[in-house]
Amino acid sequence: MQNQTLEYQSCIQSSEKVSWRLDELLPRDTELDFSRRFLSDALTGTEAIGFLNAEERLLLNQIRSNSYAHLFLFLEEYAVALASQRAGLELHGNAIHMRALLRFTEEELKHQQLFSRYTGAFARGFKVAPALLDNQVEVARAIMAKSHLGVLIFNLHLELMTQQHYLETVRSNKTETLDPLFCNMLKHHWLEEAQHTRLDFLEAQKILEQQPETLEAALAEYSELLQALRGTLVAQLALDLQTLEKAVGRTFTDAEREELHASQERSYVWGFIGMGMKAPLFLSRLRALSPVAEQHVLALAPTYYCD
Ligand SMILES: [Fe+2]
Ligand SMILES: [Fe+2]
Repeated sequence: MQNQTLEYQSCIQSSEKVSWRLDELLPRDTELDFSRRFLSDALTGTEAIGFLNAEERLLLNQIRSNSYAHLFLFLEEYAVALASQRAGLELHGNAIHMRALLRFTEEELKHQQLFSRYTGAFARGFKVAPALLDNQVEVARAIMAKSHLGVLIFNLHLELMTQQHYLETVRSNKTETLDPLFCNMLKHHWLEEAQHTRLDFLEAQKILEQQPETLEAALAEYSELLQALRGTLVAQLALDLQTLEKAVGRTFTDAEREELHASQERSYVWGFIGMGMKAPLFLSRLRALSPVAEQHVLALAPTYYCD
């Protein structure tokens, strides 16, 4: 318990060290540079679509990048609920644990504001109004109907995936020239997510110490949550393609629409599900919780790997 408290204390210290202010990172009146690609092709898969010209591929890259920012806002709706409920459980308990979890909560609320400000700037500058999912509260409630352990494992997946995205497609990307503003936003998101992943792990460990028998059901819930996430991604993809059609000013043929949908679904599923399951740190954290947890993810992975 003492060692765990030191870990929570260390999360607070790291969080204080890297903390940033929203108005400095993304001032309210920011204008985006639409001459550039925002996200790497590794996460948007737009360059391989042969029937789109270069300008149309750039538009799709930007639509996907805006949806990426929006999906974090969308998913952080449940993360706020999770972190605040975990913090509430420490009321009159361990104040250091509670403080670390309250910082986690506050940071997720700040991230939601960041992504909302970004999508606002995007909507002001893009040639058409982008269509985005708006049922985040309903989805957050459905996610939070699962056990805390199931949701913590799902959250660990998403937060380590965020890190993986930044490290693989931004920090070590020497081949693409991407929009510096978008890269900077991903960097600062990642800097704070690093502490969240540690807290997800510590909280999952806390539950497992008291109720080891709940692991199996939590892993089944993790699988259900991935399936539901896939549904959310496909729903956003349908909206992305509507936005693209408006932005390019022509109607795609059935064959073109089919190709776009199939390739973009692969890209979404790989980016948000495959890359998360494959993240080495996710697998090693699961192994540290229980070898059974790692085995569960390894057995499930082929359903989602599309590379
Ligand atoms: Fe976040
Ligand atoms: Fe987070």
